[in-house]
Amino acid sequence: ITDRRFEVAFDYLMGVCLSLPRLTGNEPLSILPLSSQPEESVGRAHYKLCDRLKLEKKQRRMCRRDPGVAETLMEAISMSTQECQYQFRFERWNCTLEGRYRANILKRGFKETAFLYAVSSAGLTHAMAKACSAGRMERCTCDEAPDLENRKAWQWGGCGDNLKYSNKFVKDFLGKRSNKDLRARVDMHNTNVGMKVIKAGVETTCKCHGVSGSCTVQTCWRQLSPFHEIGKQLKQRYETSLKVGSSTNEATGEGEISQSRPQQPPPGPSNDPIPRTMDLLHIDDSPSFCVPSKFSPGTSARKCYKDKNCNVICCDRGHNTQSRVVTRPCQCQVRWCCYVECKQCTQKEEVYTCKG
Ligand SMILES: *[C@@H]1O[C@H](CO)[C@@H](O)[C@H](O)[C@H]1NC(C)=O
Repeated sequence: ITDRRFEVAFDYLMGVCLSLPRLTGNEPLSILPLSSQPEESVGRAHYKLCDRLKLEKKQRRMCRRDPGVAETLMEAISMSTQECQYQFRFERWNCTLEGRYRANILKRGFKETAFLYAVSSAGLTHAMAKACSAGRMERCTCDEAPDLENRKAWQWGGCGDNLKYSNKFVKDFLGKRSNKDLRARVDMHNTNVGMKVIKAGVETTCKCHGVSGSCTVQTCWRQLSPFHEIGKQLKQRYETSLKVGSSTNEATGEGEISQSRPQQPPPGPSNDPIPRTMDLLHIDDSPSFCVPSKFSPGTSARKCYKDKNCNVICCDRGHNTQSRVVTRPCQCQVRWCCYVECKQCTQKEEVYTCKG
């Protein structure tokens, strides 16, 4: 049993920016620059974008009711995919999300699936909170003053990132899932982990005012961690992802109820297989990603770093070495005043790629 709204949301989140495979295929690849629309259509320019995306009714309504939403969704997609590809650049699975690979991974319960759910919801939460404070949204603005004891001393003048609004938005946008199906619940859990990591990374930033910076008056506001930091943390959680629930052995078709780290956080009430933790959860063991499959193109022809990761990335198939000549600026010096003078150096460079 799957909740269509959820699937559609993620299909949308992960897919649109990268390859547009589920759309008609005739859309231009870059649909980001909304502002380049002709002036007279500005008021409703975002309607078109919202309609073109495969959104559920409620999601489309949410997309249409604030012109900032469509843009923020795009921002979220591109941030999440870039971060995923950055975090996995030295792994066998390099976050290849073209068409069927993405869909097939999202349908399963791998560690990679967990990461994708978490990074997308984190991306959307982050982008929305920032959009609010940056004034790109009509329905939200800065974070409001929080309840702090020393509120008197602090004057909340800065514009904080509006996490409260963005959390509510993301929850509404993705909707609730039926809680019967284990995979659905694991997906939901991982989605929540993404949001919680954002929340845990909120920091209070202050600026001093007063006579010659004496700091008698401070202005403070809440700020989100840079998204790179979030990506890094989620990658660590991916490494320590917890296996839960009944995993069906594909060979035998037999199911088993298990939790691979039994001493870890206790399961929830009434034998709930979903532990209440901030761990990412997975159900299925990941494929090796070494050879082409429905989950990845394999690592043939992948670039690797000799003596560093070629053995692992190439799955011990060995690598090819190619020499190429590159010309780069070098021995640069700053000249008075003020320019940089460089020589052009020609260098031989080795490129390593995995054998097929
Ligand atoms: C991932 O690796 C494949 C080769 O296996 C390559 O074609 C692709 O461009 C890589 N993707 C990224 C995002 O680096």
